[in-house]
Amino acid sequence: MLQHLPEPAADRAGVRLLLWRDDLNHPELPGNKWRKLKYNLREACRLGHDTLLTFGGAYSNHLAAVAAAGRLTGLRTVGVVRGEELATASLNPTLAQARADGMQLHFLDRATYRRQHEPAVVAELLRTWGPAYVLPEGGSNTLALPGCAELVPELLQHTDFDHLCVACGTGGTLAGLLTGLHGQRRAHGFAALKGADFLRAAINRLTEQATGRTYDNWTLHTAYHGGGYARLTPELRAFIAGFQRRHGVLLDPIYTGKMLAGVLDLLAHGYFGRGSTVVAVHTGGLQAWAGFEFEL
Ligand SMILES: Cc1ncc(COP(=O)(O)O)c(C=O)c1O
Repeated sequence: MLQHLPEPAADRAGVRLLLWRDDLNHPELPGNKWRKLKYNLREACRLGHDTLLTFGGAYSNHLAAVAAAGRLTGLRTVGVVRGEELATASLNPTLAQARADGMQLHFLDRATYRRQHEPAVVAELLRTWGPAYVLPEGGSNTLALPGCAELVPELLQHTDFDHLCVACGTGGTLAGLLTGLHGQRRAHGFAALKGADFLRAAINRLTEQATGRTYDNWTLHTAYHGGGYARLTPELRAFIAGFQRRHGVLLDPIYTGKMLAGVLDLLAHGYFGRGSTVVAVHTGGLQAWAGFEFEL
């Protein structure tokens, strides 16, 4: 669904600002989650796996989505969670729901977790849990891209556009959108974490692996992390509340809130050309709010 966002900053800039409600595309695997999992789930089944093993932080939308996917498909799921100390703490709402969905949780110390891509670390996990289809953190592998790419033709059925804006964590969603854009129009990624310059290479690597090429019709904006990953400042909280009052749409505190704040800031600075159409993608992530309230 495409929603017009009547924002004074957009009117002043002469820009048509739209919100693509990808958060409404699946009740349990909303936004980019369903898109990134779709072809991975197919591949896991094609290879005859009955278990998905994946990685995430304690509030990870991805862990929540994989756990729900396991419940919906009947696949066993194992979630490798960053932070050994969490094993003895009471489960936050994300992990409690993941466990309720049948996910088995494996708490890993942070140093080993950082080495999650090393074959020895994966082999040890598989020795513990048995054979599994292994998905990286955030689900961002080559097979995550085609599902995200499909957003572009779906959107084009509703409107043409000049700029497509999306939040970035691991960069898999933006990489997928780039393959769907085929070098046409312009994509903008808004990094949710501090010091995200490394994402440019990661995104190029993903598109190269998936389609054999890199693209130059995109910009990664790294100034809108709002203090760092999962930092919810009073300003960001107020922005999200104001956005909900104006448009009746709740944004998530980690990704889409920062992305929309960034889009509106760029608009206010005349970044987008007069007469252009800018589409921001709501990628979901609302389950994270329960975690924030839990922390409070
Ligand atoms: C709601 C939401 N939006 C955007 C992103 C960023 O996606 P990616 O990690 O593919 O960059 C995530 C993280 O997966 C997310 O949960």
